[in-house]
Amino acid sequence: MPTIAVKGSDIRWQCADDDTIMRSALRAGLGFPYECNVGSCGNCRFDLLEGEIEELRANAPGLSDRDRERGRRLGCQARPLADCTVKLRFMPQYESHVSPVRQSGVLVAVRDITHDIREFRFRLDRPQPFLAGQYALLDLPGVEGSRAYSMANTDADEWHFQIRRVPNGAATGKLFGALSVGDRIKIDGPYGMAYFREDAERDIICLAGGSGLSPMISVTRAAAASPLFAGRTVDFVYGGRSAQDICGEDMLAELPRFGTHIRYHPAISAGGDDGWAGHRGFVHEVAERLFSERLRDCEIYFAGPPLMGQAIQKMLVDLGVPSAQVHFDQFY
Ligand code: FES
Repeated sequence: MPTIAVKGSDIRWQCADDDTIMRSALRAGLGFPYECNVGSCGNCRFDLLEGEIEELRANAPGLSDRDRERGRRLGCQARPLADCTVKLRFMPQYESHVSPVRQSGVLVAVRDITHDIREFRFRLDRPQPFLAGQYALLDLPGVEGSRAYSMANTDADEWHFQIRRVPNGAATGKLFGALSVGDRIKIDGPYGMAYFREDAERDIICLAGGSGLSPMISVTRAAAASPLFAGRTVDFVYGGRSAQDICGEDMLAELPRFGTHIRYHPAISAGGDDGWAGHRGFVHEVAERLFSERLRDCEIYFAGPPLMGQAIQKMLVDLGVPSAQVHFDQFY
């Protein structure tokens, strides 16, 4: 099993032959910076000074040609082939509250939420707690590489994933088209920094679209169950193109104080749907209209397609919302 050493320090840890440098560091309790876990964001870059690695995802977009020339690699995609010496700066905020574990889970139930979003429920071999809003890596048979999906529930023994089918997507094609109840897959987690901050004494705003439904439902469920939540509110905006994409209200309606302290705001961005009684516009536009400067006083969680996330980030920066109050993980 290769040993990874950090130059100029006495930090070293062991990485299983089939693990990656970043994930093994998190399992060892180290604060290796990361976000997406799938090679897209570049947050896990490190300098490889000695040793040899294999890259799981060739030409991952998180690494530029210039990075490569300078000996940089992606921790989430680097599988060590020998002992390695690396250079990077650990950060305590990335230390896992719950160390990620690799295990497997059995698909025990599925249910349709909309025409293209389905919930997949996996019973884990060993119960594994996580923080609401976190995600896991799923390895699907016949699909190269892992995919990151967020949990919608808050339980340790079953992890529920609400996933939107991507047209021609290999992973969602497998999930929707080939996986059956009783099938077993590999699951690795939990990961992610966009988890529910239980002790933050602010109202909460959740903004979601597509598969972003899942972590926002989890955050809202955790907030509703928290004794520290008394007196605070959750405003939940869910956006889709048309009325057939809209969902989530039934899950929130099961929570205590729905309608008073937990409020649901559906929004559609396309024209048509003449009978539509909800909001119109993109999620960031609706959020700005509804909450305006109040956003600066809230704890904000968001998840969804990349363009939605970018528009929300820009809106929040323009309004001067402190970044410490904004929580999201972008993986795509
Ligand atoms: Fe590795 Fe995003 S590229 S965490």
